[in-house]
Amino acid sequence: MTQNIKDEIDSLVDELNQHAYRYYVLDQPTVSDAEYDRLFRHLTELENQYPQYKRPDSPTTRVGSRPSTGFSSVQHIKPLLSLNNAMNEGELKDFNAQVLRALEKDPTSNELEYCAEDKFDGLAVSLLYRDGVFARGATRGDGTTGEDVTSNIKTIKAIPLKLRGIDSGELEIRGEVVFIKEKFDELNAERIARGEEPFANPRNAAAGSLRQLDPNVTAKRPLTFFAYGIAVVSGVELPETQYETMKFASSLGFKISPFLRIVKGNTGLVQAYNEAQERRNTLPYDVDGVVFKVNSFKLQDTLGFRQRSPRWAIAGKFVPIEEHTKLLDIVIQVGRTGALTPVALLEPVKVGGVAVSRATLHNEEEIERRGVLIGDTVVVRRQGDVIPAVVAPIISARDGSEKKFVFPKECPECGGPVEKPSGEAVIRCINPKCPAKIEQRIIHFVSRDAADIDGFGEKMVALLLEHNLIQDLSDIYALEYDQILNLPRMAVLSSNNLIAAINKSKKIPLAKFIYALGIRHVGEHTAEVLARYSETLDRFLELNEGELIGIHDIGVEIAEAVCAYIASDEERAMINRMLERGVEVLPYEKEEIIEGFFKDKTVVLTGTLTNLTRTEAGDKITKQGGKVTSSVTGKTDYVVVGRDAGSKLTKAQALNIPIIDEETFMRYIS
Ligand code: IVH
Repeated sequence: MTQNIKDEIDSLVDELNQHAYRYYVLDQPTVSDAEYDRLFRHLTELENQYPQYKRPDSPTTRVGSRPSTGFSSVQHIKPLLSLNNAMNEGELKDFNAQVLRALEKDPTSNELEYCAEDKFDGLAVSLLYRDGVFARGATRGDGTTGEDVTSNIKTIKAIPLKLRGIDSGELEIRGEVVFIKEKFDELNAERIARGEEPFANPRNAAAGSLRQLDPNVTAKRPLTFFAYGIAVVSGVELPETQYETMKFASSLGFKISPFLRIVKGNTGLVQAYNEAQERRNTLPYDVDGVVFKVNSFKLQDTLGFRQRSPRWAIAGKFVPIEEHTKLLDIVIQVGRTGALTPVALLEPVKVGGVAVSRATLHNEEEIERRGVLIGDTVVVRRQGDVIPAVVAPIISARDGSEKKFVFPKECPECGGPVEKPSGEAVIRCINPKCPAKIEQRIIHFVSRDAADIDGFGEKMVALLLEHNLIQDLSDIYALEYDQILNLPRMAVLSSNNLIAAINKSKKIPLAKFIYALGIRHVGEHTAEVLARYSETLDRFLELNEGELIGIHDIGVEIAEAVCAYIASDEERAMINRMLERGVEVLPYEKEEIIEGFFKDKTVVLTGTLTNLTRTEAGDKITKQGGKVTSSVTGKTDYVVVGRDAGSKLTKAQALNIPIIDEETFMRYIS
């Protein structure tokens, strides 16, 4: 009877560990969470009843350890070394030359094999396995002595409690614990809400999570682990190369660098370095470079070590995407819909190769959440297609002179009243005559995707406002040649050109016109939908809320915003003035929907496309009867990915949404 119980416990442990492996390492779960939980509960019950059969590799040992009062130190079997850095292609080639010289090989050879791997930006740990069972986990520490974080390590489900296929000998798996990027903002928001200091980046979050005294806290953190090396103590034979050793680590049940490959010579090093840099933003965790290791262990032995780093390896570091700089001030920008957006003015700094002196702080709550003060040294991050953002203050750099930003109680541009509708994070100026709003509305109206008036840039708008030549959009069409010519820096030709461009914009398709009006929540796609539905301007101006909500793609928020616009006497009067001044809004021309790949599909575009703009790409999809939305959700059918795609791609990967690259996209729309 008890033999049966022991067998049952054994098989439950094996089954649960197999499920965890499939879920956390292979990313291919075969059972539902509910089924896993059921098995887990059953195992817990049996183990409670028959503690004598509880196995050291049981998944139940991952949780429930008590908080400790500190970590004891651990001597590593072999020291954990660091890596020398190459900051560019030239330094990679220098490295290759040094290696060839040290090996007394032809310095021009392009044949030497290196194993390329991601350089994970997390926390180095070493994991000791005895007879195939996880025995101890330690941080890198100073390389020789680390801290025993076994209970915390056990909570990371991508780390096997038992190795696959090995049940004797002793070895240390070296690798990196990394924090899943997507959950980073969430964690910081929770920390700030509790009055704790936010983490500056996912690496610090990984380190902080692993050095928690309470493993139950670590267990809640989205951590994963990648192996990048094995040190054998006894009883295990390793392959002869780094590449094969990584394949071996993978067979033992570990995640390894998905970038793993063999490259040859200068050409291979440089190519892999550039490729790794390009794919960097598409990964769900941070990498800060690519590591190249001489592939053959025999050659590694010949090359040996310097003080703290091997001669046979180099980290090709990427351009940093994160810098520290001073937050000089916070100013408020008033947008076209009156939204008051706080903008961080920064001491200029280059982030990821681009000069940054402004970064958005989104809204009042965001400033509170991040705990940022004026005068703080802050972490600024730039990633993929995301605009630069202030991530967190460096609290230790404060000297007491920092000041809290007080969000204005009135519009900083017009002094008018502001409003914060309940449930919204954005504060808005509600004065329809606010000059900042008017300015932004005009800038929007004349822009390329709207009325497309050539030569009517932001400077021109400011100039016309300054000289009281326009009060609202309709005044664009009352401008006269002499008025423009008399403006500073305007000449005969430029004035003529501007008048011609204004005249040309008088014939405007309904969809462009609706978009150009700058109604809240009405982007290009929505304007197109509204135009397709109403066909003429007159019909558009008659729409009511009930009718609007009935239109496919129009939600309550949009319907309300459009209704409020249509109901406004001032806006209608303004539109009438435009018509009187010669604007002709062309009825919607029903385009034939060409049956295509994207028919009835919901598509998200992200990253930079090389062949066409995002608007053009969006039009192509709409023409096939598809719909373009801005955020990736469970309803998204495809995500089209250009260069430097960011969080949307990560989200798509997480949700298993099919991803289409530019080349394939071009084929589908042609
Ligand atoms: S190998 C003997 N491989 O980078 C070479 N390190 O500066 C020892 N790291 O502390 C390291 N990804 O935490 C190696 N694929 C990788 C790595 C990697 C990240 C970290 C590691 C180490 C630091 C070296």
